[in-house]
Amino acid sequence: TRISLIGAPTDIGAGSRGASMGPEALRVADIGPILQSHGLDVEDWGNISGPKNPWLPPEDGYRHLDEVVAWNRAVHNAVYSELVRDRLPIMLGGDHCLAIGSISAVARRCRETGRKLRILWLDAHADFNTSQITPSGNVHGMPVACLCGLGPQSLVEIGGVTPAIQPEWIRQIGIRSVDEGEKRLVHAKNLEVFDMRFIDEAGMRAAMELALDDLEPDTHLHVSFDVDFLDPEIAPGVGTTVRGGPTYREAQLCMEMIADTGMLGSLDVVELNPALDVRNQTADLAVDLIESLFGKSTLMRIPRR
Ligand code: ARG
Ligand code: MN
Ligand code: MN
Ligand code: MN
Repeated sequence: TRISLIGAPTDIGAGSRGASMGPEALRVADIGPILQSHGLDVEDWGNISGPKNPWLPPEDGYRHLDEVVAWNRAVHNAVYSELVRDRLPIMLGGDHCLAIGSISAVARRCRETGRKLRILWLDAHADFNTSQITPSGNVHGMPVACLCGLGPQSLVEIGGVTPAIQPEWIRQIGIRSVDEGEKRLVHAKNLEVFDMRFIDEAGMRAAMELALDDLEPDTHLHVSFDVDFLDPEIAPGVGTTVRGGPTYREAQLCMEMIADTGMLGSLDVVELNPALDVRNQTADLAVDLIESLFGKSTLMRIPRR
């Protein structure tokens, strides 16, 4: 596998400052060399740039909309270029609003190459708010809605075609915090959500079997990994912690089952906030899990699917 690391150092869509330091913390945790040690070809493109965070209150239901658009255009172009070069982009965020740029690029490339797209959204949150229903105005709570065409024109059109994706292409895993209006929208659009209640009752294995069910052979699998997916006891370095997330072992199983499909085509690692972390432990953990996502396992196993 040929991997390209793309840093997007901004907290433009978040409600607390610090996710802008995420790319550097992941590099300090040795993300590049560690992936290389598993025989992967890794190029680190350094960081893309964009406007500074003006840190203003929301306007018409959005904080920093113009700056969010600028960052997402830059992410879109960088991710798209790597896909055209037949490389696997890892977008190092940055906050989760940047998934609008990365996933719209992946969807655009899938349209051009005639491949199906499946998105695994690993997160404590559904990120399915709109300007009408958001409790915060923070765009990191809106990327899934924007990608599905629910959002401001300037964001929903970044991939060229609107909507960039269909709700049926998404599987959300680990969800445990959804706002009131957002909940109604999740149901109205029929998003497939494996929330923590499901994982408690059926287990991570059953959740992942269903989330990875009926993948057609030529599917591009995109993983959008919001680090607040993980339980805050093991991953304190995020701005929007929600207790009761996956344990270390549950998260490992999740990553290993994705690796077994052999279909991973692109990855976002977002919301890591070094200002809130403890001795970079959350970055180290994220890298440990990403190793599993790229196929590191204890023993050689024959994938069951
Ligand atoms: N639902 C909340 C909001 O809309 C929190 C969203 C958190 N999103 C994230 N990517 N961490 O403000
Ligand atoms: Mn989240
Ligand atoms: Mn998120
Ligand atoms: Mn390890």
